[in-house]
Amino acid sequence: MATYNLLFLPGDGIGQEVMREVEKIADWTQKAGIASFEIERGLVGGAAYDAHGKAISDSDMALASASDAVIFGAVGGPKWDNVPYDVRPEAGLLRLRKDLGLFANLRPAICYPALADASSLKREIVEGLDIMIVRELTGGVYFGEPKQIIDLGNGQKRGIDTQVYDTYEIERIGRVAFELARKRNNKVTSSEKRNVMKSGVLWNEVITALHKREFADVTLEHQLADALGMQLVRWPKQFDVIVTDNLFGDMLSDVASMLTGSLGMLPSASLGETDPKTGKRKSMYEPVHGSAPDIAGKGLANPIAMIASFAMALRYSFGLGDAADRIEKAIADVLDAGLRTADIRGDAKETISTSQMGDAILAQLQKAG
Ligand code: IPM
Ligand code: MG
Repeated sequence: MATYNLLFLPGDGIGQEVMREVEKIADWTQKAGIASFEIERGLVGGAAYDAHGKAISDSDMALASASDAVIFGAVGGPKWDNVPYDVRPEAGLLRLRKDLGLFANLRPAICYPALADASSLKREIVEGLDIMIVRELTGGVYFGEPKQIIDLGNGQKRGIDTQVYDTYEIERIGRVAFELARKRNNKVTSSEKRNVMKSGVLWNEVITALHKREFADVTLEHQLADALGMQLVRWPKQFDVIVTDNLFGDMLSDVASMLTGSLGMLPSASLGETDPKTGKRKSMYEPVHGSAPDIAGKGLANPIAMIASFAMALRYSFGLGDAADRIEKAIADVLDAGLRTADIRGDAKETISTSQMGDAILAQLQKAG
């Protein structure tokens, strides 16, 4: 049985609560003889700021870099609304993504049959939905320079962000999308706004050329990002893999989450380049939802996105696809049995707490053997 090093960074708000449920599943993974873990724990976001005035310390960054995978909760909250910009909680998450080179963010949106009625859309629109959003994660307007507010000296200020993409960044994320599509339904929809943005023109050109050169067997479509947002709520089942930039991917994945019933259902994997020598890649797994300060500490949070993110770690970092399938099946079974946290309540008479949901998934795993 192989041993892997994990760094747990629960962060803030419900990040803490949902991480406790992942610990149960990690424990099961070890007891079931699937893999063993050496787990370290660190601080990120507001929790790190409170402890040492930074959104993540250099020593926790070093642990992240040395780990086989980072398991991340969520960051932020009103408590830190007025801290300096460069140490705000989100800066910790962005530093992890950037410094670890995690350019490929995989955000699967799957509508479990039992949850089709929890979506704000009609059952027939979302039932059976299975799409994969591939979001570029280390470039674009999130990191482009200049990024500043300048004083124009006439009582006016100017806020500047820079959207910038180089050919290699578009190519490598395109490659991830096409390769995933080959293992799924063989279709990629690439999205940008080439009608108003030069970076969109280049994005479109590079994806088109890559397709022609290396992936002509995959169906490729292009949709402008605004139109794609509309299509996601009109007819989401037309999509298989969607590939898009950092900002559009951020927005579109929040939209997609509601197709699955709740933001509390969406896991994600953030992957770096594979090292040709070791075959390893840096990776981080986090739910798409945030720290939800309004419900933090009340046991109301849905731990499914976090647990499903751990399943993605097993699949994408450790080659344990079977174990990931078992965890996903246990989630589906628990939902089929009618167990619901508040966010996916639908018509359910009763709801269960964060830890009860974690326990139910664990019990289902143990029962399934
Ligand atoms: C996400 C989040 C982050 C982002 C925030 C917390 C910085 O919304 O992972 O989708 O914008 O990328
Ligand atoms: Mg987001």
